Amino acid sequence: MIWYDSTFISAPDEQLFCSDYWQKQDKVLGSAQGRGTTWFVETEHLPAALRHYRRGGLFGKLVRDQYWFNGWHNTRSFREFSLLSKLIEADVNVPRPLAAMAVRSGLYYRADLLSEKIANAQDLVAILQSGALEKLAYHRIGAEIRAMHDVGVNHTDLNIHNLLIDDQNKVWIIDFDKCAEQPGESWKQDNLSRLKRSFEKELGRYQIHWQLEDFDELLKGYELGK
Ligand SMILES: Nc1ncnc2c1ncn2[C@@H]1O[C@H](COP(=O)(O)OP(=O)(O)O)[C@@H](O)[C@H]1O
Ligand SMILES: [Mg+2]
Repeated sequence: MIWYDSTFISAPDEQLFCSDYWQKQDKVLGSAQGRGTTWFVETEHLPAALRHYRRGGLFGKLVRDQYWFNGWHNTRSFREFSLLSKLIEADVNVPRPLAAMAVRSGLYYRADLLSEKIANAQDLVAILQSGALEKLAYHRIGAEIRAMHDVGVNHTDLNIHNLLIDDQNKVWIIDFDKCAEQPGESWKQDNLSRLKRSFEKELGRYQIHWQLEDFDELLKGYELGK
């Protein structure tokens, strides 16, 4: 099954989700390493990021990229595709979803997502490794998270690898695998606490230029919103 935005994709085909296909056409722009490899490819209208869904942890070593099939609309790729569409509609800075695929084989499925590549952007870890950010940047980060929360979206993996800033100082939130709309409020604080722990963790690992007071600025931005 393939879901796609016809504004950007004219011929939905499973090849679109195959990195070899792009390689053979010499249309691979680069790649990024996360849980797996994210490929950046030049699609007909715009540069895109191609990601295959993979499991993390020990269990992931056994079944790697297979998920229990529980209906097309419950697949990882369809859920992320719809969530991104919803966030785009609400003017939250997230990659535009271009196409999503789920391939069923018996009780299981595999999945892939093609989304807009955020141009000229770096993640917060990379940025903070080269220097500190000003207060205004933290305000913008907080405000973007607030905008996502105002739509009711719980980002269950909100860490500083999943926040990008581009050369126009625009903040982008990425990686919505396993995220969902959720009623209530308590998870919003959980997102923020997780993000704070992520700064602290990378401070120890990568010596990023960050201090506790910077998080207060982020929270100020969150309170004010966009
Ligand atoms: N749409 C995008 N535009 C630019 N860079 C991206 C985009 N999607 C992913 N990346 C880069 O690829 C990395 C891994 O992608 P991500 O979606 O976070 O997957 P995961 O963390 O599950 O491997 C990100 O940290 C980021 O550097
Ligand atoms: Mg990620």
